[in-house]
Amino acid sequence: MAFGALSTALLFFGTASLASAALTKHVTCPDGKNTASNAACCVLFPILEDIQENLFDGGECGEEVHESLRLTFHDAIGFSPTKGGGGADGSIITFDKIETAFHANGGIDEIVEKQKSFVEKYNISAGDFIQFAGAVGVSNCPGAPQLDFLLGRPPAKAASPDFLVPEPFDSVTTILARFRDAGFSPEEVVALLASHSVAASDHVDSSIPGTPFDSTPGIFDTQVFIEVQLRGTLFPGNGSNPGEVESPLLGELRLQSDHDLARDSRTACTWQSFANNQSKMQREFKAAMLKLSLVGQKKAHMIDCSEVIPKPQSLKTRAHLPAGKKMTDIEQACAKAPFPSLTAESGPATAVPPVPPS
Ligand SMILES: *[C@@H]1O[C@H](CO)[C@@H](O)[C@H](O)[C@H]1NC(C)=O
Ligand SMILES: *[C@@H]1O[C@H](CO)[C@@H](O)[C@H](O)[C@H]1NC(C)=O
Ligand SMILES: *[C@@H]1O[C@H](CO)[C@@H](O)[C@H](O)[C@H]1NC(C)=O
Repeated sequence: MAFGALSTALLFFGTASLASAALTKHVTCPDGKNTASNAACCVLFPILEDIQENLFDGGECGEEVHESLRLTFHDAIGFSPTKGGGGADGSIITFDKIETAFHANGGIDEIVEKQKSFVEKYNISAGDFIQFAGAVGVSNCPGAPQLDFLLGRPPAKAASPDFLVPEPFDSVTTILARFRDAGFSPEEVVALLASHSVAASDHVDSSIPGTPFDSTPGIFDTQVFIEVQLRGTLFPGNGSNPGEVESPLLGELRLQSDHDLARDSRTACTWQSFANNQSKMQREFKAAMLKLSLVGQKKAHMIDCSEVIPKPQSLKTRAHLPAGKKMTDIEQACAKAPFPSLTAESGPATAVPPVPPS
């Protein structure tokens, strides 16, 4: 999830649900090759195959994954108990003329256009498609959790009002208030930002499209939580843009909002807790993404089709400082515990190549 004009295990799987899953009869889908515990999930298999090939370039964790993840967030956060908006209802596609014109949705028209063609091709609502594509896209990123997907969002009734999507130049107070209004705690905000592990920005500095937020943009690891805590020293392009602050590495872009959340007393300890804890990051991101995918929706009316989401590859790398950095480059912000001690990769100072457009 990238904020604004940029560019984005649930514990209930206890023994009880495992036992009932074992008793559930799987149906064979009309395609004759896939099975599902609920026949309604069968519609998803041809869509899965199609988007892996034709949206995600053969199952990559690349630009369309970042953009699709960003779209899950920009659609879902369009919800407020007082201001309106239907949440994760697909309104950003259905009412795209209105919503893609919002400043915070800058550049999102490209992925909206791409996804729209799939929504038109299949019997699936725009709201379902956006969340499905997000969950499938994330499954292409090694180290990611297998996200949940629930099917059954009805068509959007209206466009979301403007000014509900946070911007990277918003203050922490503004960002946390916006999320609280939509039902999210500060801890969940930080967990959702694990998405920046696989993100890149095209629009904060448009002279350098595809600039990643961490040194491992195709991998769902904890590096973003480490690298954002390093002292900023440079701009990857030729200066400061709104919502951008200095980053620690050549070729890396740092959002002001990430920088501030990593250093604010309300969020710094949660931020730090992910820096060397892949499983905690995975678990809390998965839970927060499920919640995000259900904003404005009635969970009880939906069908759990999580089994259709592919299982991501597990991760083999370890949390580290980028080459050329030392622990003294970490700007300690959590008052309760020291930042985890990490060693730097060897070699010349890390420079991050841009994410190629596809
Ligand atoms: C489309 O999906 C709905 C359920 O979401 C189903 O009731 C309907 O029969 C489907 N239509 C077609 C043409 O498959
Ligand atoms: C910024 O950098 C780009 C190349 O990265 C260059 O084309 C552009 O002219 C620069 N803009 C300014 C205002 O210096
Ligand atoms: C990771 O976080 C969990 C809490 O979710 C904690 O129990 C565990 O000790 C942490 N692991 C490390 C290595 O810090």
